Amino acid sequence: MPTKVAFIGSESYPFIKTGGLGDVMYALPRALRREGCDVRVILPYYACIPQKFKDNVTWKGSFMMDLCQGGQSYFVGVMETEIDGVVYDLIENREFFDWGNPYTGLWEDIPKYCYFSKAALAVLNYLEWIPDVVHCHDWQAALVPVYLRTSFAGTPVGAARSVLTIHNLRFQGICSLDHLKYWSGLPDYLFDYPVFKMNDHEANMFKGGLAYADRVTTVSATYAEEIQTDFYGEGLNGHLWYHRGKLRGIVNGIDVDIWNPRTDALLPNTYDEHSVLEVKRANKRALQERLGLTVDDGKFVLGLISRLTDQKGLDLVNAVFEQMLDDRTQVVILGTGDPRYENSFRYYEGIHPGQVCACIKYDESLSHQIYAGADALLVPSLFEPCGLTQLIAMRYGTVPVVRETGGLKDTVEPFNEYTGEGNGFTFDRYRADLLLDAVNRGKDQYFDHRNVWDALVRRDMEKDVSWDLSAQRYIDLYEELKELGLQGL
Ligand code: ADP
Ligand code: GLC
Repeated sequence: MPTKVAFIGSESYPFIKTGGLGDVMYALPRALRREGCDVRVILPYYACIPQKFKDNVTWKGSFMMDLCQGGQSYFVGVMETEIDGVVYDLIENREFFDWGNPYTGLWEDIPKYCYFSKAALAVLNYLEWIPDVVHCHDWQAALVPVYLRTSFAGTPVGAARSVLTIHNLRFQGICSLDHLKYWSGLPDYLFDYPVFKMNDHEANMFKGGLAYADRVTTVSATYAEEIQTDFYGEGLNGHLWYHRGKLRGIVNGIDVDIWNPRTDALLPNTYDEHSVLEVKRANKRALQERLGLTVDDGKFVLGLISRLTDQKGLDLVNAVFEQMLDDRTQVVILGTGDPRYENSFRYYEGIHPGQVCACIKYDESLSHQIYAGADALLVPSLFEPCGLTQLIAMRYGTVPVVRETGGLKDTVEPFNEYTGEGNGFTFDRYRADLLLDAVNRGKDQYFDHRNVWDALVRRDMEKDVSWDLSAQRYIDLYEELKELGLQGL
């Protein structure tokens, strides 16, 4: 019997993606499916899902579900669609999902994801599709393991085991005890310190999910260690340390079909590890033309593709921006987020026309062109659970410059100038001078030791950044849970 897994999370490419969670919710189910698992993905049917996907769903039916203290009745509609053997069940409720992109703010998001977590389990019972494992993602699905062992115990889906994956501990779903008590409708005994309670006033959805999940994973081995410390633990380090016996770190991969420079239809010119050196120059010129930069393939083009938040180390970038620029260097930024970063990058573009381009938007197609046309990609994060941009960059022969934290540390082997080994330029402490030094070490190789740089580019393109190995690790985890059975947990 194939292992049956239900993925439950708040976003998935191609329906809706705001960051790496959306990539993983798409690529990992596909990889599991290739390994013989039977996988369904349960998502909200947001109004902002593009029409072309809405045109392709099948109505599966609807029912009413109790939510909230006092048990108010809410509508649950189910739409279904399939992409390459992975079935997507989309939950419809206009009151919760008709606005936002998809997140609006915690006050509304807490009720939205209480509803979603409970409805996801109710839908599995409704469809009579009972998984071996429910695999939940981030705080938005963190109530699933709790509902599974309370409201749904004794129902068919109650026989499933649960895995909760931490993609980013920064966001936890924190609100007043009363707000969560009201919306979740969960019993009072859960609102104590071992489960939801944070302090006299606040409840934390992620904390409760972590306590109730049968296994907890995070998206790199290093982040699994880091989150048990004060600095990275976001206030939950003690809780995570207590539950460390069920915590595993499994590094992300990327979908190597979508991210494939050999076939990528969004690129001006496709290439492989043999043609990369020549074709990258052509792609660089196309990128420079598209963005209004001085067209010159001799420049060192440094890219940055990111949500613009303090997680991403942008304070370091701002601190040494002028020193990173010289007349041999161009910088391309693609991202949206915190206005202070958006504005500082716009400012640098304004004072360095032709040399800096700040694209303050979300643009999937431009991102492909930057991965293909830049020489190096900057990821100097303050913390990074895994990070996908450095993986995509390597696949496109673009050398990553990263801080050694979380998944960046686990996926980018530091370049060693004596042996010529490694995948990118790295620095350890969160210091702007160290970032600048890493960029300069990269430029030294690029301008003065081009043969070494070229070998690095080719090596990065050959690195295995696919899901193959990690999907197998998730399968091993599911098997371990199946063997243990409910009694053994
Ligand atoms: P996070 O999930 O913390 O945002 P990741 O590195 O895991 O970071 O994933 C980011 C994903 O979002 C990558 O696929 C990246 O290419 C994409 N991305 C980020 N910002 C943009 C943008 N402005 N335009 C297009 N894609 C973006
Ligand atoms: C989060 C993290 C990022 C990770 C992604 C997918 O958004 O910030 O590091 O790659 O989730 O797991």
